[in-house]
Amino acid sequence: MKKNLVLLGMMGVGKTTIGEIVAKKQDMKFIDTDRNIEKKYSMTISEIFDEKGERFFRIEEEKEVAESVKKNNCVISLGGGAFLNKNTQDAILRNTNSVWLDVDLKTLSERVKWNKKRPLLNKENSQKKIKQLYSERKDIYELANHKINCDNLEKEDVAKKIIDFYEKY
Ligand code: S3P
Repeated sequence: MKKNLVLLGMMGVGKTTIGEIVAKKQDMKFIDTDRNIEKKYSMTISEIFDEKGERFFRIEEEKEVAESVKKNNCVISLGGGAFLNKNTQDAILRNTNSVWLDVDLKTLSERVKWNKKRPLLNKENSQKKIKQLYSERKDIYELANHKINCDNLEKEDVAKKIIDFYEKY
């Protein structure tokens, strides 16, 4: 049985859209861990952050990833912070084929604007915060099995590169 495929990286790089494309093309199931948490609580991620706090969300996120990696034949898109959790990291590195979808900080700053769906950013300092998160996280994302720089690539092209990587395993 082939390992699941995990997509990770910063918010705004297109993990969900690209994951859905890959899953469809490869006839695999698609899991978005944030979406599953939203369904479980009938709340948006922002509402969960507001009403229950980030710590609660991170615990749910760890549980959700642990459940997801046990399934078969899945493409799993993670929320941007999930891979920072050591248990999550270990489970992913041990049991899955993982791809870091990266974009340059400049592209990221252009793409990721504050909106209600991004509880970690706030209106006034979203650019500063995105830079801070990226510099804190990039060395951790680097642990993934494979990295794709998505700058100047259409989502379909990124999906193709992911499939090329995945088919080698
Ligand atoms: C987060 C990214 C979000 C979501 C939450 C926290 C992060 O997911 O999990 O807002 O810590 O970077 P996306 O990467 O899908 O936006």
